[in-house]
Amino acid sequence: MDRNRHQGKTALVTGAGSGIGQATLLRLATEGAIVTGCDIHANSLDATRLLLEKQKLTAELMVADVTGQDDVDQLVTSLNGQLNILANVAGIMDHFVPLGELQDDLWNRVIDVNLNGVMRLTRAVLPLMEKAGKGAIVTVSSEAALGAGAAGVSYTVSKNAVIGLVKHVAYFYGPKGIRSNCVIPGPVATGIGASASPESSWAMERARLKLATMPPTPAEPDQIATVISWLASDEASNVNGALVTSDGGWSSA
Ligand SMILES: NC(=O)c1ccc[n+]([C@@H]2O[C@H](COP(=O)([O-])OP(=O)(O)OC[C@H]3O[C@@H](n4cnc5c(N)ncnc54)[C@H](O)[C@@H]3O)[C@@H](O)[C@H]2O)c1
Repeated sequence: MDRNRHQGKTALVTGAGSGIGQATLLRLATEGAIVTGCDIHANSLDATRLLLEKQKLTAELMVADVTGQDDVDQLVTSLNGQLNILANVAGIMDHFVPLGELQDDLWNRVIDVNLNGVMRLTRAVLPLMEKAGKGAIVTVSSEAALGAGAAGVSYTVSKNAVIGLVKHVAYFYGPKGIRSNCVIPGPVATGIGASASPESSWAMERARLKLATMPPTPAEPDQIATVISWLASDEASNVNGALVTSDGGWSSA
């Protein structure tokens, strides 16, 4: 852990009330950044506040839904025109629902959080980074983007699509000093399980073949946060448009 790595930089982390987002907020704050964290659930942010206090760290915590343009605008206004790092972490799973059993509501919600939320927030912070001529955006995709067996159709599509967004930003905004990269976690011990409980027995049976090749122990959230922190740092200044797996080797199976 390099306590000066992000000294004086400002950072915004979504999904900061739990799991990877919470670990990212704590890590960036420990490494010197002035961090704002948001989450849709106020009670989750209370848990993050307790951890900050325990570790004698500070961060701004805001309840915000990344799918709402008003909430996104409020978040960006709170940054007072300056942002060096955006970590797009908030996301939900899709209960392994396959296409034939898919209801529009589930599709719309998963795409809205996992793709539209990332698009809205990234779009909103680009002007700040363009003005500064510098910025780093790290977006969390998933092993579900590398193969179809790790989730249902909504999650798989959302995590593939977000890679297109990451690459778009890397290519078009790289010359303006903005780097955009993607982390692809394998299994991580977090709170996402609630939206991962299977709702289709035959699809889950099929998914089990892929899940059987998973590493036996899920990663800790900080093992992903450390990759996010590195990608956001100046040490990764030549890394743009990259997909970095942190999956215990799952994608090699
Ligand atoms: N846990 C895993 O095994 C795993 C694997 C691959 C990818 N991921 C991805 O990692 C990211 C973080 O997930 P996690 O595992 O830490 O899960 P988590 O459920 O522990 O944390 C996700 C957080 O995002 C918040 N959130 C959900 N919808 C939101 C919204 N609309 N606006 C703001 N906040 C919202 C939740 O309240 C929660 O606190 C997600 O994008 C997920 O898809 C997780």
